Amino acid sequence: MIEEATNRLKLLEILAGSEGQIVPSSTLTDALALSRQAAFKLIGALRGEGLDIESVPQKGYILNSIYQTQAMSPTLIDFLLRTNQLFSKCYYYPEVDSTQAVAKKFAWDNTPAGVVVTTDSQTEGRGRRGRSWISPAGKNLYFSILLRPNLKPGDVQLLNLAAGIAVRETLIQEYGVDAELKWPNDVLSGGKKICGILSEAAGDADKIYYAITGIGVNVNMSADDLSADLKKTATSMLIEKHCAISRPILLRDIFSRFSELMRVLENPDAGVEKLLSIYRQSCDTIGKEVRVIQDDEEFQGRALDVTGQGALIVEIDGKEKAFAAADVHHLRLK
Ligand code: BTN
Repeated sequence: MIEEATNRLKLLEILAGSEGQIVPSSTLTDALALSRQAAFKLIGALRGEGLDIESVPQKGYILNSIYQTQAMSPTLIDFLLRTNQLFSKCYYYPEVDSTQAVAKKFAWDNTPAGVVVTTDSQTEGRGRRGRSWISPAGKNLYFSILLRPNLKPGDVQLLNLAAGIAVRETLIQEYGVDAELKWPNDVLSGGKKICGILSEAAGDADKIYYAITGIGVNVNMSADDLSADLKKTATSMLIEKHCAISRPILLRDIFSRFSELMRVLENPDAGVEKLLSIYRQSCDTIGKEVRVIQDDEEFQGRALDVTGQGALIVEIDGKEKAFAAADVHHLRLK
């Protein structure tokens, strides 16, 4: 099975190297030391993953539209992540309860850091504070990353901050989506939620054994996919940009930034401070008038800064109060 996955990847690498052009069958069979029949079977498997591979009789194969595809092809995702230093192995499932739950199983099986679990559909997608995360099939990105950072349990929030920066930057810089980062890690577009992030960790007083950072991005969901209630608070890249986005490419783009930020964070030479300084520049909450809801209590004040562990400092009636976890609403001043 591992050999088959490796061969699929090698085959895709060769086809992708000549995207849109005929690759002779002999090139494939020679490179993989396989019979024509075995190569044909692998081509069938890649097509089964949703990749558009044309057969040209007596000549060979053409791979089309690899950078536009909507298919969450596991081989394509491995191909796109092959140069990523931190996230290079992806496990794809057509449907799961929650990618968080699957990634947790990997964590307890001693799987090394950097493994990604992704799916086309979640039946029990989880949000922050026990909420659910709507996860319609084939539309959005749902993934969880297994990390084993050299951090203390109280620092898990920093992973959320890094993931939030990564998504915000990707949406703005690569896709021209107007994205705002609301503390701690909600990414909004036009004031509506476009991405949610959830980090869960296990460890002892001194050290995290593992952390799972789960990210859900509303990619190709249309307004019709949203209930009347959700329409008021949620949006998607399709709704904002009026064009469908390739989910595997978006995944690659987010990972490219997230792995850079993880490198920053894990740098023993003031990495945490550097990450916080990037966060302070990216977070739209800082400097805003906010309403904060924590354990059924409501506060209003001006968000001033974040602490070294990513808690939000709010000035309320002249006094500073730090919130480690809460729901925040940006208020528009009249
Ligand atoms: C939030 O409430 O804003 C956090 C939402 C996190 C959703 C993602 S989707 C992938 C991963 N699997 C889950 O069940 N939840 C996270």
